[in-house]
Amino acid sequence: MLEKLNAIERLGLDALKSVMDEAGLEAWRVAHLGRSSALTLLFNEFGQLSREERPVVGQRANEVKKTLESAFAIRSEEILQAALARSIEQEQLDVTLPGRRLPLGRLHPDTRILRELYRIFGDMGFQVYRSREVESDEYNFQLLNFPVGHPARDMQDTYFVESELQGENPVVLRTHTSPGQIRAMREYSGSNPHHPPPVRIVLPGMVYRYEQVDARHETQFDQVEGLAVGPGITFSDLKGTLADLARRLFGQNVRTRFRASYFPFTEPSAEFDIECFLCGGKGCNVCGGGWLEIGGCGMVHPVVLLNGGYDPEIYTGFAFGLGAQRIAMLRYGINDIRYFWENDLRFLEQL
Ligand code: FA5
Repeated sequence: MLEKLNAIERLGLDALKSVMDEAGLEAWRVAHLGRSSALTLLFNEFGQLSREERPVVGQRANEVKKTLESAFAIRSEEILQAALARSIEQEQLDVTLPGRRLPLGRLHPDTRILRELYRIFGDMGFQVYRSREVESDEYNFQLLNFPVGHPARDMQDTYFVESELQGENPVVLRTHTSPGQIRAMREYSGSNPHHPPPVRIVLPGMVYRYEQVDARHETQFDQVEGLAVGPGITFSDLKGTLADLARRLFGQNVRTRFRASYFPFTEPSAEFDIECFLCGGKGCNVCGGGWLEIGGCGMVHPVVLLNGGYDPEIYTGFAFGLGAQRIAMLRYGINDIRYFWENDLRFLEQL
């Protein structure tokens, strides 16, 4: 039987040398390793061997099987490589064909409006100051003159970070960019000699509210907060800054208005509206009555100045918080705020 095995091995290896293609490989595999190959049939005859012969013949039979299998694998690889080389040789390359155009991405309308606002405020002398999105109740409300239980908190329905609730100072997703006012003032008024007062900054970023979503309200949106603190700053400076912003964004003839309002952290307070271009001031589902509310503003409350480390007897300041999406809606003629985060390519590709 050992001789038979030697012959099977020799025959198989010899035959493999003349195999030249995939069909030949398959035919060889069936003939030499398949179910009715001499080798497989020989395995079936092991029962007739004596107990002494069985391990010797068994070991040799396994060796032969392995040799044939690895020779087959090597030959398969050779044939595959040869076929590949042939196909590359035959391939014709037309170097004059124009290249394929890759679709280019573009800036999201939100990124565009934010960059435009940074540029305009930069020209006016405001620096960008980045503050945190996850805030404590203390910074988001208390230091801004909203004590615990203050009814004005209802204006900004809040998302709490559940696992971190800490009594009267829970962790919240900021409902507005105003807590950054306190952080910035504390940094500027503190012992940092590189940033002495006055302050002139804008604080951009995402804010979160548990809102009823409609054409002009989203549950997350960008605000751009502005803060100027210094000696002798007045409400006229605030009006001038926002009116100038509107002109730089929408041209010399844009109509704006200030409406008296209330925020605990400013006194006096106002809302800043721009005439709605989406309906030409007639009134639509976005603006309601022909004017779109762009932001809240006012003179920084003395309590807030004190909390920021500024003496309200010496310093005054103005602050505003603008809705970036609202501005983008007017700037780009977008009639529903929900388009911003839907990621619909038909919307994104327009700008
Ligand atoms: C505030 O958030 C105040 N922190 C603004 C402020 C800052 C006042 C500094 C005084 C001094 P208000 O909730 O009105 O105010 O929001 C400001 C602006 O954000 C609105 O005028 C509007 O343009 C935008 N805004 C408010 N809620 C939404 C919303 N759900 N979706 C989109 N934009 C919104």
